[in-house]
Amino acid sequence: MTARPMSPNLALNQLVAERRASGDDILHMGFGESRLPAFDPLVEHLLAGARRNGYGAVQGDATVREAVAGYFTRRRMPTGPDQVVVAPGSKPLLMALNLVLPGDVVIPRPAWNTYAPQAAIAGKHAVSVPIPAEAGGVPDPAALRATLHAERRAGRDPRTVILTLPDNPTGTLASPALIWEICAIAEQENLTVVSDEIYRDVVHDPTTPFLSPSEVIPHRTVVTSGLSKSLALGGWRIGVARFPGDEAGLALRDDVLSVASEVWSTLAGPMQQVAAYAFAEPPELRAHLAASARLHGVVARAVHEIFVAAGATCRPPTGAFYVYPDFEPLRPVLAAKGVTDSPSLARHLLDECDLVVLAGHLLGDDVHALRFKAATSMLYGDTPALQWQSLRAADPLALPHVARALATIERGVRRLVS
Ligand SMILES: Cc1ncc(COP(=O)(O)O)c(C=O)c1O
Repeated sequence: MTARPMSPNLALNQLVAERRASGDDILHMGFGESRLPAFDPLVEHLLAGARRNGYGAVQGDATVREAVAGYFTRRRMPTGPDQVVVAPGSKPLLMALNLVLPGDVVIPRPAWNTYAPQAAIAGKHAVSVPIPAEAGGVPDPAALRATLHAERRAGRDPRTVILTLPDNPTGTLASPALIWEICAIAEQENLTVVSDEIYRDVVHDPTTPFLSPSEVIPHRTVVTSGLSKSLALGGWRIGVARFPGDEAGLALRDDVLSVASEVWSTLAGPMQQVAAYAFAEPPELRAHLAASARLHGVVARAVHEIFVAAGATCRPPTGAFYVYPDFEPLRPVLAAKGVTDSPSLARHLLDECDLVVLAGHLLGDDVHALRFKAATSMLYGDTPALQWQSLRAADPLALPHVARALATIERGVRRLVS
């Protein structure tokens, strides 16, 4: 039996820890974590829930599901508590969906590095379709249509498409026009849309229009989300899914609940307490979310500027906390250093430039392309005190610890292209 590999971003964490232990001073941009402290009221609710030590309902208790239903309803997706499932992270919910949805799955290229392995674990064939020039997180509509037809001719059965809104790894948000196009194809081609909206509350500019496919084709869209990104609670493992409210949607929910009951049983009681508070979105939490989204935007744009100034092309970031530069314009310069593809680019950045990034091919991208993902959320400081400073600063870029991190990137990138 061949060993299954570790998720590449987690493997990278281990490598960074080893290099740091041996004295290397390197900047880690290879992990998609929001490096911000836990907001105090969340900690208070966690403590208040500590005595909830019994098994809870598999779907989540009524209070938390009502709060989540309110969250979606405020976002133009009218939702009843019966349509909601809470779980220890959205990752297991996405895995459960993979296990119960029929047929094969379409994934944008590049995409978050977990979608394809999850499909493989579920025994599905995953086909990747390139993203359009304007934004990631969705397949290019024309390429999607062509791929669906080619796959069916080849005897496969694509029935699901996964979208990421806003996107990891490109840090962009697909426009409403693109969503309409994808939804029209999903309708014509009888696809279920899994809309991963875990970065929804990390849109940098609150006036940017956001259209969820569940507003357009609610009967065939499942939305997943959670608190790992917007509230920097990755380690607390709080995820949610919203199912269509019709008979087929609730049957799909029941299939997911069947997997849940055999795998994770329930979202931990204290976390249900936290989630009920967070998804109700009281004013102080909304203010904290807004400050976090603003900081992510300011720093992502600064990193974007560094890559573009060095000669890379890169979609301007509008959501999440990533940039995804393409060094194709600098191919001759890089080739002279032995950098000819995605693995050698990431390796060179680590060995010669003190920068850790996630190589594009690990996200399903073309291995010959000179692209990578840089997570910009790791630059806010190594201690909660510095991170709070970053969150509260009128100009975070002027803070010494943020400026130092940006200078390290600038120096590393200059070394790469000189
Ligand atoms: C696009 C995307 N979806 C889902 C997740 C998983 O989040 P959770 O912590 O809810 O399992 C991540 C985390 O990296 C992500 O980037």
